[in-house]
Amino acid sequence: MSFTAAPPTILVFDSGLGGLTVYREVVKVRPDARFIYALDDAFFPYGRRDEPVLVARVLGVMDEWITAHRPDLVVVACNTASTLVLPQLRARFQVPFVGTVPAIKPACAASKTKLVSVLGTEATVSREYTRALIRDFGQGCAVTLVGSLRLAELAEAALKGEGVADDAIVAELAPCFVELDGARTDTVVLACTHYPLLLDRLQELSPWPVNFMDPAPAIARRVTDLLGPANGNATPAGRVVFSSGRPPAPGLAAALARFGLETGVPAGAGV
Ligand code: DGL
Repeated sequence: MSFTAAPPTILVFDSGLGGLTVYREVVKVRPDARFIYALDDAFFPYGRRDEPVLVARVLGVMDEWITAHRPDLVVVACNTASTLVLPQLRARFQVPFVGTVPAIKPACAASKTKLVSVLGTEATVSREYTRALIRDFGQGCAVTLVGSLRLAELAEAALKGEGVADDAIVAELAPCFVELDGARTDTVVLACTHYPLLLDRLQELSPWPVNFMDPAPAIARRVTDLLGPANGNATPAGRVVFSSGRPPAPGLAAALARFGLETGVPAGAGV
């Protein structure tokens, strides 16, 4: 007699659609898992929230979602939340959490010019957690912190098919490019999970080529460290949960469908 282990349930959480850039990597390594993509759209963007308010909010929504979906593992696919609230989540809940934090260590190890920039929400770049990563793993690099007010919202608009002007992206991206004593920035850490949604535009609008570092593949590896490798290839469609409870508009439902996520809204439906 042989027993087949039940596929794990993985809950991927973000304030909005940025966590999709992590979700797509985790699905690649655990295609057999049941996925819940949970987004706190009612409270987006997290980057503009005060720390105590955000801690209470994340603990509250996580309590509801963990009770409702009983995940085997939670991926916090949000730098703004992970750099603030991971210790409290781990203290409060039994389930393992995999966080997303700025990839400063690999970026500084990879940089040849020793000029690295970290592009994140204003909240993430000002957190003590981020400063400590630079102190501990900066490896002699000059690290420029660039807090963006609007890039997460621009990424959401682009994903939904709304036009986003080049100028709007350039205004957020330009401070990442530093020239110092004849050297130039060669590595930019994407410290917000929304930004890889705009990767093509970021590359196109860069004044010179740089290595944009996306932590998602490393997060996927951490998931298989904890849960083990895939057990078969069956790919059940993931489900989306919105904290607002609002049905997604057609542009958003179509974007989620491109990631293999079901919203219950038929393509083309006028919601
Ligand atoms: N995706 C989130 C992150 O990685 C932030 C977006 C927001 O401001 O809500 O930081």
